[in-house]
Amino acid sequence: MAAVRPGDRSASRSDGSSDAFVFFGATGDLAFKQIFPALLGLIRDEGFDMPIIGVARSGDLDALRERARQSLAAAGVVDGTAVDALTTRLRYVKGSDEDVETFHALRRELAEARHPLHYLAIPPALFGTVITHLKASGCAEGARVILEKPFGRDLASAIALNATVHEALAEPDIFRIDHYLGKEPVQNLLYFRFANSFLEPLWNREHVASIQINMPEAFDVADRGAFYDRAGAIRDVVQNHLLQVVSLLAMEAPSGHTREAVRSEQFKVLDSIRPLTPHDIVRGQYRGYREVEGVAPGSVVETFAALRLQVDTWRWGGVPFYIRTGKCLPVTATEVRVELKRPPQSVFGEVEPPDADYFRFRLTPDMSISLGARAKKPGEALVGEAVELFACHRSGTERPPYQRLIGDATRGDQSLFAREDAVEAAWRIVDGVLDGQTPVSLYDRGTWGPPEAAKVLLHGDRWHEPVDTPDVAGGRP
Ligand code: BG6
Repeated sequence: MAAVRPGDRSASRSDGSSDAFVFFGATGDLAFKQIFPALLGLIRDEGFDMPIIGVARSGDLDALRERARQSLAAAGVVDGTAVDALTTRLRYVKGSDEDVETFHALRRELAEARHPLHYLAIPPALFGTVITHLKASGCAEGARVILEKPFGRDLASAIALNATVHEALAEPDIFRIDHYLGKEPVQNLLYFRFANSFLEPLWNREHVASIQINMPEAFDVADRGAFYDRAGAIRDVVQNHLLQVVSLLAMEAPSGHTREAVRSEQFKVLDSIRPLTPHDIVRGQYRGYREVEGVAPGSVVETFAALRLQVDTWRWGGVPFYIRTGKCLPVTATEVRVELKRPPQSVFGEVEPPDADYFRFRLTPDMSISLGARAKKPGEALVGEAVELFACHRSGTERPPYQRLIGDATRGDQSLFAREDAVEAAWRIVDGVLDGQTPVSLYDRGTWGPPEAAKVLLHGDRWHEPVDTPDVAGGRP
């Protein structure tokens, strides 16, 4: 086997590219918002040329083409030729995901295709049924499958689902998607950590006081009530997106000559995180959530979670990792803050500065890296102020995550997908605090969640609040 650099997805692609793309849930929200625009990007920029078969319970080919047009219009695509390039490739199979006949019809529609890529953009509860029917109809032969998150509902169901999927497909053909891994700023965490040697001496329990990831979202669950009320913030973004970010922040340097090296290190981090107990987490729900269509009247599902993780490794022992996320918070942004320990002694006799030095990685909506430090204020006295050394990336050139990830899956490249062991390790972390195992506190829209969130903080730490204005100049207080 040719040597490859760990994590290098441009290195040797595996053979056996997919020759048809099938998506279940063709009339659904995910297809509309993400899959159609991603497919167009692949066709336009990456030579993606294969039949695209939508499967859904209702409608026909014309309706599917119209939905694709509307999706692209909503994504700002105005080029008619580009739109036609997608719609002319579309095909349609009408039928229920629960009826094996739908899958026999799909096999006929696949015709000569021998390596279909099936994207299950459907409620996770149907994954098992669809996989079983794919196998029974011959559609799983030579195939790959992309499964949307959340993968399972808890540890036991994830283990059972992995077993079901493995009855039809081998692990190299299973793509558990987590679109956060396809985001440029998230990949940059991996790059920045291991492309710069200056970080390594600092990146450990000797110098880091705490690590904090904030993912506030200013919007509510809108028309996703039915989905969201079966999930909640922990299943929706903590078990997957945010734990993936933790794994990239906390992992050891990948070594070896396979692309699996990065995923193996990510798994080791997740495997070393202590399972959460009710003392480590505060759950919240915004006022008015229970009135959303599809939400149960007395729902105790959380729209907010604040939690503290302990990564039990030699490098991180005793360093708290905090996560806070929620809907209807004041801003929409995702930031990582790595707070460093304060100097051992106050040389200049200053009143203690409000913040210790830190690294700040902004992941959404824009991408930047800052180093927060103290510098002397001009003047005779040795008195300082907080400053930031700041670098930002002008976005606009990167491939959108779904385009990148679907393209990778067609080539059989799993680097940016969650591996079986990692998914189960992530469920093991949250398993003890799912559903009603802890109380849920109400909070008002537009606030930073219930005040109880402060309870998960140790050593006088405080929550940091990302701003939502474009972070182009740094120099924040
Ligand atoms: C999705 C969640 O996976 O990620 C949403 O289901 C969340 O609830 C979204 O809003 C956030 O991702 P992004 O890329 O929009 O920041």
